[in-house]
Amino acid sequence: MTLSRVLILGTLALTTIMSPGGSEDIVADHVGSYNIDVYQSYGPSGQSTQEFDGDEEFYVDLEKKETVWRLPVFSTFASFDPQGSLRNLAIAKQNLNILTKRSNYTAATNEVPEVTVFPKSPVSLGQPNTLICLVDNIFPPVINVTWLKNRHSVTEGVSETRFIARKDHSFLKFSYLTFLPSADDIYDCKVEHWGLDEPLLKHWEPEIPAPMSELTETVVCALGLSVGLVGIVVGTVFIIQGLRSSGASRHQGPL
Ligand SMILES: *[C@@H]1O[C@H](CO)[C@@H](O)[C@H](O)[C@H]1NC(C)=O
Ligand SMILES: *[C@@H]1O[C@H](CO)[C@@H](O)[C@H](O)[C@H]1NC(C)=O
Repeated sequence: MTLSRVLILGTLALTTIMSPGGSEDIVADHVGSYNIDVYQSYGPSGQSTQEFDGDEEFYVDLEKKETVWRLPVFSTFASFDPQGSLRNLAIAKQNLNILTKRSNYTAATNEVPEVTVFPKSPVSLGQPNTLICLVDNIFPPVINVTWLKNRHSVTEGVSETRFIARKDHSFLKFSYLTFLPSADDIYDCKVEHWGLDEPLLKHWEPEIPAPMSELTETVVCALGLSVGLVGIVVGTVFIIQGLRSSGASRHQGPL
């Protein structure tokens, strides 16, 4: 590892959180990022990911100490030694401890996350689709993103990305829910973060064109029927006229 890599490339931010227990339980939480690796003392935990063009390529499972590719096909083109990440995280942790003390355990504020929910493809009833919950401006990177269907928690068909680092040192995360659009089901993406006073629910439901009222249906039906009847009458008149004129010309015969 070259000396320059030992320099802190990321930033240091300090956060103080208060647990519900009361002021006695105040603990300082700190986040340090080192190149692609993020370490924070909450937990304590860290994350190591590789991104390409704002998309996650892989992350390193720090417990199993292995590289997890976001799309399994990537692993056939490339490999990544998780040991490098573990070393970087150890360095990030060391530097973070030093900087935490040097800053006199100064606390930074929790940011308020921004949440957007949208479907992956245009919604059509009965067509399997995926709901995407985009949570932006996450700081510190400690968050719970969950899904509610008809106000009840769902876990099936749910997946999420790691934290994706932004240039301003906040983070972005996507959560996915596969679903079958139905006129009766409503969904919420639930976000819990220290920047929010209470869990934030971002609502989503399919936009169904308003069903036709019975009167409209009757009118449309009657109109269709009358157009059909007029057509039959006009058609019959033309046929009779046609028959007559051809009959007349036959009767006339050659002069
Ligand atoms: C931390 O405290 C020391 C001693 O009070 C002071 O000299 C120093 O400037 C402080 N550092 C920061 C980053 O506030
Ligand atoms: C996330 O959920 C866990 C388990 O319910 C809870 O202990 C933790 O405080 C939550 N995190 C946040 C940031 O609300």
